[in-house]
Amino acid sequence: MTTTADYSEKIPNNVSLHEDRRLQRALESWQPNFLDWWRTMGPSLPTQDVYLRTAVNVGREGWAQFGHVAMPDYRWGIFLAERDPGRRVGFGEHKGEPVWDKVPGEYRADLLRLIVIQGDTEPASVEQQRNLGATAPSLYDLRNLFQVNVEEGRHLWAMVYLLHAYFGREGREEAEELLHRNSGSADAPRILGAFNEETPDWLSFYMFTYFTDRDGKYQLGTLKESAFDALSRTCEFMLKEEAHHMMVGTTGVDRVVERTAQVMVENDTDDVAALGAIPLPVIQKYLNFHYSVSLDLFGGDTSTNVANYYTAGLKGRWSEDRRQDDHKLTDDAMMVDALVDGEIGELEVAALTGLNTDLRRQYAGDCRGGVNRWNKILADAGLAHRLKLPHTAFNRKVGAFAGIEASPDGEQLTADEWERGKGQWLPTDVDKTYVRSLMRPVHERGKIAAWIAPPRNGINGQPFDYDYVHLA
Ligand SMILES: [Fe+2]
Ligand SMILES: [Fe+2]
Repeated sequence: MTTTADYSEKIPNNVSLHEDRRLQRALESWQPNFLDWWRTMGPSLPTQDVYLRTAVNVGREGWAQFGHVAMPDYRWGIFLAERDPGRRVGFGEHKGEPVWDKVPGEYRADLLRLIVIQGDTEPASVEQQRNLGATAPSLYDLRNLFQVNVEEGRHLWAMVYLLHAYFGREGREEAEELLHRNSGSADAPRILGAFNEETPDWLSFYMFTYFTDRDGKYQLGTLKESAFDALSRTCEFMLKEEAHHMMVGTTGVDRVVERTAQVMVENDTDDVAALGAIPLPVIQKYLNFHYSVSLDLFGGDTSTNVANYYTAGLKGRWSEDRRQDDHKLTDDAMMVDALVDGEIGELEVAALTGLNTDLRRQYAGDCRGGVNRWNKILADAGLAHRLKLPHTAFNRKVGAFAGIEASPDGEQLTADEWERGKGQWLPTDVDKTYVRSLMRPVHERGKIAAWIAPPRNGINGQPFDYDYVHLA
C-alpha cells in the first residue's frame, strides 16, 4: 500500500485499483454517472476554473496540491489513510482481535446500511448548495464553497469505493441509488431530514458547515473506530478534508458576527437591518434552527441498533481510545434525556443503548466552542449581547422530545405557546426574505459584500484579493 496517489489512472487512487480489473471496470462505469450527476446537480454557476486543493497523498505533511482547475476535470479519487498493520479492534466483544480486511457475513447488512447512510449525506449537501455560487459575497467565499462541494463529491467516491469493493452486486446497486436520490425530492428524497432542507443563502451555508457538517465529523469519528479496517481508513482520511469544511463554517459565522458588531458600534444601534448587516437576533434564529435540526441527525436518545453496532465493533465512540473504561460497557449505565411523566428530564439506561446520546453530547460540547468564540467577538467589540445554543428539547423532530414543544431556554410549552413564540426563535419568512435581499453577488477580485467582514487569511498563503475563481 503506497501513500502516494496514482494519478496516471482514470480514477486517481492509493488502493492499487489497477490490480483488480473487475473492480476498476465497475468503478469506471460508475464514473460517467457521477459526472452526469455533478453536471446536473452540482454547482450551477458557470466557471472557467477554481483554485482548488486536490489530495495527492495521505501522509501527515503536504497531502494536498493547489491549483486552478476546471471543476468537471477535478480529479475525484479514492484515498484511504495508511494501513496500520498491527491495528486491533478497540471496543466491543471483539476487542483485542485483529481488525477485519473483509466484511464478516454476520455484519454485512449492518455495515452496508451504515455506509449507505453516510454516503447519502455527501452528495446531498452539494445539491443543497448548488445555487449559492450566484450570490457569493466574495471570490474567496465562492472558492471555499466549491472546495467543500468537490470534497463532498470525493466523499461520495469514498463510500462508493467501499460499496463496490466489499458488497458485490448489492453494493453496486446502492451506489446507483446514491445518485438517484436527491435532496428535497418528492419521490426519492435523501435519507436524513436535515439533508432535505434547502440552503438558500450564505448565512445558512455557514451555519450548515458549522453545525451540520460537524455532525458529519462526529459520525465519521465513530466509523473511524470501526473494526472493518477499510471503512476506518477511509473515514480517517475524510476527517482531514472535513477540517477545512469546519473552518469555512466557523470563520464564516465569525465574519458575519464581526461585521454586525462593527455596524452596531459604529452607528450605536441594534437595528442594523437598515444598514445592510444581519441583526444579532436573526443570527440567533438561524443558529437555533441549524443546531436543532443537526441534533436530530444523532437519532433516538436510546437505540438498541447502535448498542449492537458497538458490541459488534462496527461503530465506536468519539475518541474511543481516550475513554477511561473497559470499552465494552456491558455493565455500565448512563443518564439520557427523556420525558419523565411527560416532563423534560433524564432517565438512567444501559450505557450501550445511550450511545447516540453520548455522541450528541460530545458534539454539543464542540458547538459550545463556536458560540464562545462568536461571543468573544461581541465582547471585544464592547457589546453586551450574547449568542447561545438552544436547549436540547428545542425544535426537535427526532428523539425523546420530538412529541413536545420547548422554548430555547428549555421551558416546556403548549402547542399554542409554541405557535405564538416560534417566530421569535426560528427564522420567519420576513427574516429569510431580508437575509436573501442581502445576497447580491460580489464577484470582483478583492471586494466583499457589506454584510460580512473579510477573512483574516486567504487560502494556501494567497491574499484575500487573489483570483480564486475565474467565472465563465
Ligand atoms: Fe463529507
Ligand atoms: Fe463536509
